[in-house]
Amino acid sequence: MKILVTGCAGFIGSHLCERLLKAGHAVTGVDALTDYYDPLVKRTNLEKCRHWRTFQFHNCLIRELGDEHVKDAELIFHLAAQPGVRASWGEQFDTYLNLNVLATQKLADRARRSPILQRFIYASSSSVYGNPLSDSVGEGHPTNPYSPYGVTKLAGEQLCLVAAANYDIPTVALRLFTVFGPRQRPDMLIDRLIVSALTGSQFTLYGDGTQYRDFTCVLDVVDAMLLAATTTTAEKVFNIAGGQVASVNEVIAIVEDVTGARIAVDRKRDEKGDVRGTRAETSLAAHRLGFAPQWTLRDGIAEQANCVEQRLGVSLVQRSGGSHARPISTYCQCQS
Ligand code: UGA
Repeated sequence: MKILVTGCAGFIGSHLCERLLKAGHAVTGVDALTDYYDPLVKRTNLEKCRHWRTFQFHNCLIRELGDEHVKDAELIFHLAAQPGVRASWGEQFDTYLNLNVLATQKLADRARRSPILQRFIYASSSSVYGNPLSDSVGEGHPTNPYSPYGVTKLAGEQLCLVAAANYDIPTVALRLFTVFGPRQRPDMLIDRLIVSALTGSQFTLYGDGTQYRDFTCVLDVVDAMLLAATTTTAEKVFNIAGGQVASVNEVIAIVEDVTGARIAVDRKRDEKGDVRGTRAETSLAAHRLGFAPQWTLRDGIAEQANCVEQRLGVSLVQRSGGSHARPISTYCQCQS
């Protein structure tokens, strides 16, 4: 199949592209390589994909992508976005609005004119729910974002669903819950914890660490995306979560255990926009898509730690032998 993936150089997008290429599909990837984090990390994420002749990469914004790439696509996975819950305040909001709302509207608008499109998959977010009103959150829970980022992800989702309803575009929105695993973004909790464990640098804890997340391994997310692309279902919105609910304090303990290192914690007050907790109800994805997450939090963290270790050029064995961090020399090329 001919498949378009936006945000192809990102944490999730790069794993998705690899899986699609391995399955024999022709993938057009688009990514603006924005500097929310080091674009070199994103380029490195793409290294495996570049070995495939069936992979075409466009380093541009979605609106700059030639019409033919949208028209030719049988599947579109729309993952491109400005991420980060806590960074979406103030001046930064323009970027969130541009990249998460306007870009999505433009893509959905172009997709509706595509004659061969079989499915449009939007990477939505648990942040559309805000603070939960019940212990676990099903798709019918009210959407009540708690951060500007969440507002833009919800707006993006609704724009996709509006296009779907009016123009009969077969659309699925997947609300992803705190994704972790190899190539996780460097601003996220688990990546920062592993870096601190491996290098001895301080980790900044926002709040008291009792906030909790339903962590989801990226490899399970890729499974969910492939299922959403190929399963016939009338439902348009699904929670995708690993069922690995843990507090930040619990995650610190797991990372310490996996790496064999103590993490120096610097405590700061909680950050605006940060929700108290997430816990997803995923029976809809299980029944309709056959989604069944495979990765435990501990195993996924161990896999991620190997990846960060490669990126930093630090050996766990060396660490425990007393030697400390070497300068950053390589970046993670972990495969899915
Ligand atoms: C994550 C992603 O960053 C979002 O892009 C995504 O949309 C969202 O999941 C989602 O589920 O929809 P978040 O749950 O905040 O957002 O994940 P992390 O950035 O890994 O943070 C988890 C918790 O760790 C938060 O409470 C945060 O305050 C805390 N944390 C994070 C720290 O205490 N220190 C840090 O350095 C980083």
